[in-house]
Amino acid sequence: MAEATASEGILASENDEKREQIVELLKKSYWMEIETVMSYITNSVNPDGVRAQEIRESLQQDIQEELGHAQQFAERIKELYGVVPGSEEFSAQQSFLQPPGKQTDVVHVIKGVIEAETGAIEHYTKVIEETEGVDPVTNDMVIAILRDEQGHRRLFEGYLREYKAEGLA
Ligand SMILES: [Fe+2]
Ligand SMILES: [Fe+2]
Repeated sequence: MAEATASEGILASENDEKREQIVELLKKSYWMEIETVMSYITNSVNPDGVRAQEIRESLQQDIQEELGHAQQFAERIKELYGVVPGSEEFSAQQSFLQPPGKQTDVVHVIKGVIEAETGAIEHYTKVIEETEGVDPVTNDMVIAILRDEQGHRRLFEGYLREYKAEGLA
């Protein structure tokens, strides 16, 4: 497929198989980001109450960051000779970030965000391991994204800590 030689690393034709494997991991990453954008939009709007405001604003900011991640994954899929999948290939996974029964249930949202970020952290850690030494560009890109996700999780763990301290979670 690629007309490249060994000196061209992951783009070399002899690395077709490895590259296709990385593209599949990137497609999953892309869908995780897209679903997170959807979930964060809903949860930046739905929650009610004084205490929900901080969560809503925090998620509003994250939406742009997660969208940026999705765009980075899409670009990298193309650079590796893959095709960014169309919307019909999407299948939802984030059962834990569906709207709660009561819109004042902020703890449900906080826990859902932590679960989404944890899922991203686990998958991106795998992508980093798989690209180590074979695709330094993807490796570097995903390390930077992983740091963002760790930051998001830490922030929401802090919110949860406050609710736990008050016996509300
Ligand atoms: Fe993300
Ligand atoms: Fe995130």
